[in-house]
Amino acid sequence: MPVSLVILAAGQGTRMNSDLPKVLHHMAGSPLLHHAMQAGRSLGPERVVVVTGHGGDAVTRATLAFDEDALTVVQAEQLGTAHAVAQAAPLLADASGDVIVLYGDTPLVRPETLQAMQAARARHAIVVLGFHAADPGRYGRLLADGDSLLKIVEYKDASDEERAISLCNSGVIFADAKLMFSLVGEVGNANAAGEYYLTDLPELARKRGLSAGVVICPEDETLGVNTRIQLADAERAFQTRARAEALENGVTLTAPETVFFGLDTVVGRDAIIGPNVIFGPGVTVESGAEIKGFCHLEGCHISRGATVGPFARLRPGAELAEDVHVGNFVEIKNAILDEGVKVGHLTYIGDADIGEHTNIGAGTVTCNYDGVMKHRTRIGKNAFIGSDTMLVAPVSVGDGALTASGSVITEDVPAEALAISRAKQVNKPGLAAKLFARLRAIKAAKAKG
Ligand code: UD1
Ligand code: CA
Repeated sequence: MPVSLVILAAGQGTRMNSDLPKVLHHMAGSPLLHHAMQAGRSLGPERVVVVTGHGGDAVTRATLAFDEDALTVVQAEQLGTAHAVAQAAPLLADASGDVIVLYGDTPLVRPETLQAMQAARARHAIVVLGFHAADPGRYGRLLADGDSLLKIVEYKDASDEERAISLCNSGVIFADAKLMFSLVGEVGNANAAGEYYLTDLPELARKRGLSAGVVICPEDETLGVNTRIQLADAERAFQTRARAEALENGVTLTAPETVFFGLDTVVGRDAIIGPNVIFGPGVTVESGAEIKGFCHLEGCHISRGATVGPFARLRPGAELAEDVHVGNFVEIKNAILDEGVKVGHLTYIGDADIGEHTNIGAGTVTCNYDGVMKHRTRIGKNAFIGSDTMLVAPVSVGDGALTASGSVITEDVPAEALAISRAKQVNKPGLAAKLFARLRAIKAAKAKG
């Protein structure tokens, strides 16, 4: 059954005390919105619609950055969650199958939970995600009988008896698309808040003789971010979960509490991750690779047998083939390093292709930016780049070529050639001793006054 995703992200998030729209605050290095989109992505959605409002342009840009096929629609006035879902109706009028509604500020829902809801759709026309709250506070309460849902009562409208219920509404709701939008059209706003409540849907469905159901998940999945404290709580919960998953998957973390994962980090079995490693979005580490301490990785791929760090930075587009070695104080961006390449120390490699088993000496810099445009450096296989070589791109160095230490390479180097581009050394006998004697005399004269 095809599924479309509707993500509600119009709210202002006043309690964040921020100029940034709430859903654009980061957790695990990515906007909260991306986490909701990532969870929904596991259902293989046919269409994704994000409902924007406050900070709409920025939210739209962030939506498209994650999924260029996603659609956005503006909810100009925030009249309630059902009103928000109704805005998506025109964009999904011809969508077949189901719709699932997620909140952009609820980043911890697990794909497994969404799949359990999808499975429960076989038994119910509409399925709501609930949780047992330790402190039910102002959450909507679920009136349920087994896995069958009678109705949802918002806190403001609940009786004391209903407020005593600890089974709460997460906000995630799953239903046939046509049914969802037809029911949303029936929702009124005659309630304590004067809002159009999405939570009216189960009861409206039952009035049509359809069944509503509830799937229950652990409370930590439903954590919604309304304040900076909750954002920090969500970050902690995310990292705790990601660390446990990595360990269970056979990854060694020498100091798990100091490793920070991104929303989509993939680390293979028997990889070793040292202390204080930070993963941004889009990182894959294959089995058996090793990331030593204090590395910062983002948008990169590290193959089997490669070693990285300590203190290395891999930026988007860094592709390390098998057995590549990247050492300390090395930065790599948008560069492909073929098998067995070694970049040991203090080097910047940006916009480059480096052939297999080439050695890059300490202090090498690809001068990739002329102040206006970026240019590429191409180095063949089995080449040797001497320490402190400046490679002024665009430039290429052929297979098996060598650049002498301290060279500024501005012209292509043919295969197997030696390129040397530095001033010739001149030795002046005895001159150092003379110079020092003069300087000491000056210092002594000054000290006398
Ligand atoms: C909602 C649920 C409540 C549930 C709780 C879980 C309703 C009526 N209530 O309450 O049962 O326990 O979430 O956190 O649905 N939004 C829009 N446009 C709007 C209104 C809201 O996009 O017009 C978005 C918000 O930005 C937010 C989400 O929908 O991401 C939830 O809205 P919010 O106002 O926070 O709902 P709650 O009162 O928390
Ligand atoms: Ca809320």
